[in-house]
Amino acid sequence: MNFITTLFFCVLPLFYAPFQGCYSAATPPGDHTSSVVLPVTGNVYPTGYYHATLSIGNPPKSYFLDIDTGSDLTWLQCDAPCTKCTPAPHKPYKPNKELVECMDPLCESVHWPETHQCQSPKEQCDYTVQYADDGSSIGVLVKDSFSLQYINGTVAKSILAFGCGYNQEVPASMNPPYTDGILGLGLGKASILHQLRELGVTRSVVGHCLSAKGGGYLFFGDQLVPSSGVVWTPMSTTEIEKHYSLGTAELFLGGKTTRMKGLPIVFDSGSTYTYFSGEAYKALYSMLMNDMKGKKVYITNEDKSLPVCWKGSKPFKSIYDVKNLFEPIILKFKKSKFQLNPESYLIISKNGNACFGILNGSEVGLENINVIGDISFQDKIIIYDNEKQQIGWTPANCNRLPNMDDDDDDDGDGEPDSASLCKPYGSNLGILPPYCTAN
Ligand SMILES: *[C@@H]1O[C@H](CO)[C@@H](O)[C@H](O)[C@H]1NC(C)=O
Ligand SMILES: *[C@@H]1O[C@H](CO)[C@@H](O)[C@H](O)[C@H]1NC(C)=O
Repeated sequence: MNFITTLFFCVLPLFYAPFQGCYSAATPPGDHTSSVVLPVTGNVYPTGYYHATLSIGNPPKSYFLDIDTGSDLTWLQCDAPCTKCTPAPHKPYKPNKELVECMDPLCESVHWPETHQCQSPKEQCDYTVQYADDGSSIGVLVKDSFSLQYINGTVAKSILAFGCGYNQEVPASMNPPYTDGILGLGLGKASILHQLRELGVTRSVVGHCLSAKGGGYLFFGDQLVPSSGVVWTPMSTTEIEKHYSLGTAELFLGGKTTRMKGLPIVFDSGSTYTYFSGEAYKALYSMLMNDMKGKKVYITNEDKSLPVCWKGSKPFKSIYDVKNLFEPIILKFKKSKFQLNPESYLIISKNGNACFGILNGSEVGLENINVIGDISFQDKIIIYDNEKQQIGWTPANCNRLPNMDDDDDDDGDGEPDSASLCKPYGSNLGILPPYCTAN
């Protein structure tokens, strides 16, 4: 699924300094750095998205929500009643009577930058979200209890505002998502990240670790941010849009520049694939085609998994059969670089071909923005730190939680000892590898 962009923006008048203002008014949760962790299910191919399971309502019910750092509003398909709900894993959410009022700043936030008018202050807050992939949701903002589990195992209930979506259109992508809604983790006020911060539950930091094998985890707060090894890049403050923007980069294939500089880069977990726009896509595409000459793989038109696929003399079984043939793609920022090894931009299709997971953004109307999606986040922890206005990444095994306590490496092999990975909170969440349950 490709939730690339939305019509949401940070809730700021244009004449304010963008971004900083979004968080300056709030009181950060003091020195307490508690974090919430959620297991994640899904994969890039063939599923096309990753979802987290949220417990919402009283008594809590489970919902599968697509993890989207590209938009702010969390919404659930909702029996308000449903005008148009799409097929989903669970029954639509049944709202209680807690409505967000039209005058609430959250309501203003979901309407910004359009002018937001209330006929009467107590009326309900209607919303429409339109995603870049043509998906949409129409509904009303409601409040209900979210049960979130801290890393120490304690479950905290927080009343959060979210959308009760009673009229959905599915995106025009190959794989319409089979979820109950969207988990909006953008940097605007309507995002649950901002709400959790206002409530003093966690800091406004979100991280995801999406495994190439499928699954992974998501966290809110900074407790799971590795203390070393993370490459940080400041969030761009020149753009007024609410996206997680890293400013501009130069694009390289292998050691060679594509000569494409000043490319605005956005991170968006709601996008399955990575998109380069216009000239950048063209330059990368033609360099890659050149590079592949004489490497005994051939473009095939028979595979419809993605627009560009290569076949070999026999079907590829895994990415390891082809990764030596392809060069890494590198985004060079002012002070950091983001490297896409072949496994971060290729998938092996069901037919055993290697398909290019970087798509032409101009075809989906992205103009000059370049969107880095799930395929390129695999096997990395990606951290969006709204407190420090920076985005970080580091390679990781996403099938287990990172080592949170240095003392856990008692045998000094540089790996957390298995016993320390088997704390009850982790196994409860189903994040840890199976050998832990045997201990
Ligand atoms: C877990 O952490 C939360 C948040 O810091 C705290 O309120 C709670 O008391 C802790 N629970 C335990 C069992 O330590
Ligand atoms: C990318 O898409 C645009 C718009 O559809 C098209 O004009 C352009 O030729 C495409 N570029 C490549 C290299 O395929």
